[in-house]
Amino acid sequence: MAELTRVAVLVSGRGSNLGALIAAARAPGYPARIALVLSNRADAAGLERAREAGLPTAVVESRPFGRDRAGFEAAMGAELDRAGAAMIVLAGFMRVLTEGFVARWSGRMLNVHPSLLPAFPGLDTHARALAAGVRLHGCTVHFVTPGVDEGPIIAQAAVPVLPGDDEATLAARVLAQEHRILPAALAWAASGRARLEGGRAVVEAAPAGGAIANPLPDPPFAA
Ligand code: GRF
Repeated sequence: MAELTRVAVLVSGRGSNLGALIAAARAPGYPARIALVLSNRADAAGLERAREAGLPTAVVESRPFGRDRAGFEAAMGAELDRAGAAMIVLAGFMRVLTEGFVARWSGRMLNVHPSLLPAFPGLDTHARALAAGVRLHGCTVHFVTPGVDEGPIIAQAAVPVLPGDDEATLAARVLAQEHRILPAALAWAASGRARLEGGRAVVEAAPAGGAIANPLPDPPFAA
């Protein structure tokens, strides 16, 4: 049996994506195991989720390091080394990483972002999608590169923006899709089916058929 890729999941908050990864990793044949859940906040609910699942956890508080990002990352690096992590998943990790750290983990670090990148990088994506009036919104899993939310895209899922949506309803619809595509993307990356090559993501997986249109065209235009 192939060796499972040891993954560190970095969280700052709720940890629902971590929960999806924990569930996925229990399935026979999943190519990764969660070797560490690391948080920059001792009060992150994701840590509790990890403990309940019996996973090793570590806390490296970012606050005491102030602007010393390299120092903070060196402390994280020590935990990652201790856990023997071969890959990192940023699952709601709210710190921007330095170029040095990102370079060290190039092609081995994924991030999940709640928009269809390159639209709406950064924060408050659902409010911004509603303000922009887009009809389709969604989420993205990408390899992490130094530019925030700019890395090569591994997977995306689109959802309709529905009449009456507010930030909460739209966020919930997107989050359900994050929970689908993040475990899938990690499985591909952990097994070498998603790779960073020449600055692009190569993904060996079945392409989706069909298309989403929102609103639905009326007959007779709807084929
Ligand atoms: C998710 O929406 C993720 O895309 C973003 O932060 C949120 C984290 O949620 N980066 P959770 O902690 O996984 O529940």
